[in-house]
Amino acid sequence: MKNVLFVASECVPFIKTGGLADVVGSLPKCFNKDEFDVRVIIPKYMCMKEEYKNQLEYITHFYMDLSWRSQYVGVLHMMYEGIHYYFIDNEYYLAGPRPYGNIYEDIEKFAFFSKAALSALPLIGFKPDIVHCHDWQTGLIPVFLKDKFHEGEFFCNMKSIMTIHNLKFQGVWDMKTVKDITGLPSYYFTPDKLEAYGDANYLKGGLVYADAITTVSRTYAEEIKTPFYGEHLDGLLNARAHDLRGIVNGIDEYNPETDRYIVKNYNAKNFRKEKVKNKRALQEELGLEKDDKKFMIGIVSRLTDQKGFDLIAYMMDEMCQQDVQFVILGTGEEKYENMFRHFAWKYQGKVSANIFYSETMSHKIYASCDAFLMPSLFEPCGLSQLMSLRYGTLPIVRETGGLKDTVMPYNEYEGTGTGFSFANYNAHEMFNTLKYAQYIYYEKKREWNKMVDRAMAADFSWASSAKQYEEMYNWMLGC
Ligand code: ADP
Ligand code: GLC
Repeated sequence: MKNVLFVASECVPFIKTGGLADVVGSLPKCFNKDEFDVRVIIPKYMCMKEEYKNQLEYITHFYMDLSWRSQYVGVLHMMYEGIHYYFIDNEYYLAGPRPYGNIYEDIEKFAFFSKAALSALPLIGFKPDIVHCHDWQTGLIPVFLKDKFHEGEFFCNMKSIMTIHNLKFQGVWDMKTVKDITGLPSYYFTPDKLEAYGDANYLKGGLVYADAITTVSRTYAEEIKTPFYGEHLDGLLNARAHDLRGIVNGIDEYNPETDRYIVKNYNAKNFRKEKVKNKRALQEELGLEKDDKKFMIGIVSRLTDQKGFDLIAYMMDEMCQQDVQFVILGTGEEKYENMFRHFAWKYQGKVSANIFYSETMSHKIYASCDAFLMPSLFEPCGLSQLMSLRYGTLPIVRETGGLKDTVMPYNEYEGTGTGFSFANYNAHEMFNTLKYAQYIYYEKKREWNKMVDRAMAADFSWASSAKQYEEMYNWMLGC
């Protein structure tokens, strides 16, 4: 049996702010259980859902040095859908109303969590062969593993992987403070190690010291080796190109046939009649004009520049002149929240702005809309477009990262494709693509429906990606 430990800052169903939680919550279930024992460790945030917090069982606690500090580490456990989940507890670091606070708090919080996660292992009685780290919050783990932990017999052969879900966020703070927080010697704070442009950089530490690096789509794995997408780490990623691979994300529980959040379940056979009942109900619920035939476009997203909202802002007025309805669900940058509120006011009955976070509403949107707009500037993988495809809601995307790898552009001559895409980050290209989709929807409904058939039939389960992770684990362990 090969032991793998996922270390991450969020995980469905316990705590989620984005796609990282979906991945950490679904991938561990998909490995061959006869060969791999994959477990997960995350922080026990005070803001975690009560129903889960109440079910955790206490395992142990101890005090851990974090430089000159001595900090309480509680360890809790829960078995959920066949997977062991461990939770690191500390009320000083983890009491905030959200998992992430300001960067200064987070820098110390995740240094604590990373060291605590490793320190807890001998007490838990689980010895990973591989520690699989996710994003900057766990970037110090490969560094710690090469430092003090390396001296102990328990840790000395442990390998590590750093998975990049988003290179934009790196955990950067001044070196003096990071030295003080981590207790790592000056040796690590040089430009070939943790230092980047005069500051300390957690993700860079992870990328330098991990035995292997992955990211969440093939295209993004290529893109991040270029200056445009490389977020100033493209040099390092090129240097480590042999250890870097792109493995696309999957989704598991999203299924329109069994979804309990939606008004009318449907499948690939009966969507022509049944899917529209969801649209009808959503129009009613959100006060949109009631019209089964109206081209309804959904957006479910963090409202940030990454997702292409400046293109949308630029074109929103013109897009609203079209024969369409928009349903937006998201939170994030205030300028985008206010922009959508404004358009909902200006185009009543046509635009619905839902500026909050709701699992239920997100499912209703994936199920009800005809198309899903996601014109990202960059997109490591993207899960929303996968969910849309599974619900027969055709994505309109920019060809970048995982969007390029998962949405096949419609080709009217060959009768292929599962969505619509454009290449350049340009508002008019997006607009023209949306108008093209609108034209196919209204004028070539048969073609549209065939595309829905193909979208719903596409396989975005974890099966093949989990295999690729298994192969990588085996390769790292020399099996
Ligand atoms: P990212 O992780 O960059 O935000 P992904 O597409 O990988 O993008 O994942 C986003 C996830 O978060 C999806 O599961 C999506 O449905 C969900 N999501 C985003 N915003 C909201 C919201 N306001 N309410 C509910 N779910 C949301
Ligand atoms: C990040 C990326 C997103 C990806 C998700 C899960 O949040 O922005 O593209 O799907 O991580 O890997």
